[in-house]
Amino acid sequence: MDTLVVERWQRDREEFIQHARSLGAVVLERNAFEDPVQQQKDIQWLIDQKVEVLVIIPNDRASLSDVVRKAKDRGILVISYDRLIQNADIDIYISFDNEKVGSLMAQSIVQAVPVGNVLIINGGSNDFNSYMINRGMKEVLRPFLSSGTLKVIDEIWPPEWRNEESRAAVEKVLAEGIVPDGIIAANDFLAASVISALSAKRLAGKVFVTGQDAELAACQRIVEGTQLMTVYKPIKDLAKTAAETAVYVGSGEELRFSQTIFNELKDVPYIALDPILVTRENLESTVIADGFHSYEDVFRETLD
Ligand code: GAL
Repeated sequence: MDTLVVERWQRDREEFIQHARSLGAVVLERNAFEDPVQQQKDIQWLIDQKVEVLVIIPNDRASLSDVVRKAKDRGILVISYDRLIQNADIDIYISFDNEKVGSLMAQSIVQAVPVGNVLIINGGSNDFNSYMINRGMKEVLRPFLSSGTLKVIDEIWPPEWRNEESRAAVEKVLAEGIVPDGIIAANDFLAASVISALSAKRLAGKVFVTGQDAELAACQRIVEGTQLMTVYKPIKDLAKTAAETAVYVGSGEELRFSQTIFNELKDVPYIALDPILVTRENLESTVIADGFHSYEDVFRETLD
C-alpha cells in the first residue's frame, strides 16, 4: 500500500484482506507511508517472502519498473490496484473508470455554474489516475471554456495527494480578491482543505466544490451544503475483484477482460468499475443503501 492516510484506503485494506482470506489466501501486507523508495523495498521484501501474487497501490506511477521486472522473472502475478503502474510489465490494472470520475465532477460544476469562473485542483501528479480524471473533466469543460462562458482562473497539479497546495491555491485567489464560482477538487481529502480555506473567509457553502471517495466527512459536508458532490466508488466491489483475480488467476485460471490501457510499455488488461455520482438527492439511495456509511453518521448534524 501507498498510504492509509486517505480514509478510503483503510477500507480497501479491510475488504481485500477479508475477501482474499475467505478464498483461502494468506495475505502479507506492507505500507510505504507515501515513500516511493520504501515501496520498492516493500515489494522486494514481499518477493523474498516468495509471494505468488503482488497487489500494488503505487505511490509513484513511474518508479516500479525494475522491481516489477524482478517479480515477473519469478513468475509472480502483478496486479496494479486502483492506480496504474507505468512502464512496467504488470498483468492487470483493476480500478474504476477514472475518466468518468472526472467527467462527473465537471458535469456537476457546469450544471451548478454554467457561467462563471472555476479553480481546478488536480490529483497528485505522481498518480496516473489524476491524468485520467483531468482528461474526463476537460472533455466536459471544453465547450464551456471555448465559448467563454466558463473561465479557469487557475489550475494546479499538486505533486502528491496532499493538501498543502490546494489550501494555498484557494488562499491565493481569495487574496487577489477573486471568489471562484466553482472549485473542482480531485478528491474529498483535497476538498476538505479547500472548504476550510473558504470557511476562513466565510465563503463555505457559497462556492461549489467537488470531490470523490464519498468520505464520511464529505457526505456530511454535502448534507450541510458546503460540498456540491462526491463520487462513490464501491470499494468492496474493487477489493473483491482484486482478491478474486489474485486467487483465481494467481492459481492458473484464465484472465478475462474487455479493454486494455497503454502504460508506456504495453497494453495492460484494464477492469474499470463504474463510479457513482453522489449529491444531496441520492445520498440515501447510494452510500447509505450500500452500507458504506450509516444514516446516523451522515445526517448527524440534522438529527436532534
Ligand atoms: C487516487 C484515487 C482516489 C484518491 C486518491 C487518494 O488514486 O483514485 O480515490 O482519493 O488516490 O489517495
